[in-house]
Amino acid sequence: VKPVTVPEFRSAKGQRKLAVVTGYDYTAARLLDAAGVDCILVGDSLGMVMQGHPNPLPVTLPQMLYHVQCVLRGTKRALVIGDLPFLSYHESPRQAVRNAGKFLKAGAAGVKLEGGERMAEQIAACVRADIPVMGHVGLTPQSVQRFGGFKVQRNAAQIVADAKAVEQAGAFSLVIESVPPAIAEEVTKAVSIPTIGIGAGAECDGQVLVFHDLLGLFPDFRPKFVKAFAELGTAVTAGVSAYCQAVRDGTFPGPEHTFK
Ligand code: KIV
Ligand code: NA
Repeated sequence: VKPVTVPEFRSAKGQRKLAVVTGYDYTAARLLDAAGVDCILVGDSLGMVMQGHPNPLPVTLPQMLYHVQCVLRGTKRALVIGDLPFLSYHESPRQAVRNAGKFLKAGAAGVKLEGGERMAEQIAACVRADIPVMGHVGLTPQSVQRFGGFKVQRNAAQIVADAKAVEQAGAFSLVIESVPPAIAEEVTKAVSIPTIGIGAGAECDGQVLVFHDLLGLFPDFRPKFVKAFAELGTAVTAGVSAYCQAVRDGTFPGPEHTFK
């Protein structure tokens, strides 16, 4: 298998659409890689779907690095990008380089960080250190307290300015989250790097979904932009209750599951 590289991912713009999914562990990474995703994003959304927090703010850098290592062991082809968690890059470009570098040392191909104009120096410093950066504009979940919730972002001028700042700083691609499709389309036309949308309409250069949302595994809430392409939550509950039933009525294990 030929691994997806950062330059290949970047040059897909206008050629083919990019399919990105989040992943947090070895088994999921193997399944995602076998399904042919272009990129596995080890997102700080793991604060919600793995840890059960209401937002990603509690997630730490060591936790992110642990999940990146798990995902890397299960990935042969997809580009693996690690998400810089809250306060691991906000203080200074120097802090951003130091912490982003840990993801590359762990084996990731690059990092993602949130913010446009306000984070341009951080992005540029990482890029100078040969750390590929994916930007993230629109609804940035690490800003949830400032926004007062996970709210659709509608300030077109600010979002376009942020996207241009991210591109100018040297990022190789850009997530756009929870913005009206017209704004995402404007951004996609305004920058030369691929835009990866989530809740941002169909005109982006690619899409990203959280693994658990895509597979119907996260019952807590289902945002409007999520499509569950399978209902694994229902399948898991049915499978496990069939197991409980079989244990209780003595039909499992059968002779075929028993050592002679
Ligand atoms: O943490 C995450 O999963 C993300 C994506 C949804 C873009 O940032
Ligand atoms: Na994230």
